[in-house]
Amino acid sequence: ALVLHVVGARPNFMKVAPLMAALSRRGAAQRLVHTGQHFDERMSGVFFAELGLPRPDLDLGVGSGTHGEQTGRVMIAFERALLEAAPRPDLVVVPGDVNSTVAAALVAAKLGIPVAHLEAGLRSFDRTMPEELNRVVTDHLSDLLLTPSPDADENLAREGIPATRVARVGNLMIDTLRAHLPRARALAAWRGLGLPEGGYAVVTLHRPSNVDDPAGLGRLLGALAEVARALPVVFPVHPRTRARLADPALAGAAAALRLVEPLGYLEFLSLTSAARLVLTDSGGLQEESTALGVPCLTLRENTERPITVAEGTNHVVGTDPARIAAEARRALDAGPGRGRTPALWDGQAGERAADAVLAFLAGARA
Ligand code: UD1
Repeated sequence: ALVLHVVGARPNFMKVAPLMAALSRRGAAQRLVHTGQHFDERMSGVFFAELGLPRPDLDLGVGSGTHGEQTGRVMIAFERALLEAAPRPDLVVVPGDVNSTVAAALVAAKLGIPVAHLEAGLRSFDRTMPEELNRVVTDHLSDLLLTPSPDADENLAREGIPATRVARVGNLMIDTLRAHLPRARALAAWRGLGLPEGGYAVVTLHRPSNVDDPAGLGRLLGALAEVARALPVVFPVHPRTRARLADPALAGAAAALRLVEPLGYLEFLSLTSAARLVLTDSGGLQEESTALGVPCLTLRENTERPITVAEGTNHVVGTDPARIAAEARRALDAGPGRGRTPALWDGQAGERAADAVLAFLAGARA
């Protein structure tokens, strides 16, 4: 049986790596397709090198565009690839919630090839968020849904997806975190940036809802400048955000922050692991800070990862500057992070996912 994995954007790479490694230990035949949604060395290449991912068998080279353009280009190119593939894959695996995920799932499903969704069942219940649409559609196209936490199973049950299709395997991204944490710590990235261990904040912002409107971005930067009065704030800037920060009206607030280029996986993990506080609109970083026990303020109105709030270190604080500054002060006063790591975020999710994939393939053949 042949398993074909499809990745496209930065947050996909750390999810698929542990599954590919576990399947390869079990002798499974695998192929890897990169859609090319992310293409810069800093957004893609460095992750392949650091995570030990095999070089993709195929790069679709779709690049950036509007949602329709990007999703459409992945569909056209991936459909052609599947039609030409020999042998035809027995399962297409798609991680996460980016445009490449839903595009590849739709193509495979229409060609009658079973789809497995890694990180299934997450819901923000906010359909203005493009990723929410990608999640819902991908889950309903999938034959095997690998979930990270019980809330995800409940969401899928509520939407009528039969429990027989669902396997709760835990959090694959946290497998990658645990595997690389010792090397990341040894890197001591904070030192290179001249930051005191345990005494700085890490910021990431890239959601269109936060960065595309200059006035809104200006208000967020103002709140972060306020935080920077208490401790240094380091901000690795996503390319989407970098383009917005070129606006001269934002230069003043940005000057209070340490803006740096997007970091590789190890360097970023190193930096986060020794942070006093994380402020972010990323999905993955909410989970990573929970696994690291670092307090996290999520600068959004909702989260598709409620377990990071219920059990971990995450607080969903919205985007009002006064609230962000107040919550940051409270988090700094409260001392180091509390909270526990959710069940099955134990570094073995890839093993369980590989077992679920092989059991699915055995059942499909029978
Ligand atoms: C995408 C995902 C988002 C994920 C994020 C992680 C969708 C809908 N969004 O958002 O869920 O959280 O990735 O980073 O799939 N660009 C570069 N170099 C690159 C890639 C992009 O410069 O390698 C620039 C381009 O100008 C592009 C912009 O970033 O227009 C946005 O890229 P895109 O892939 O459309 O979405 P992201 O904002 O990265």
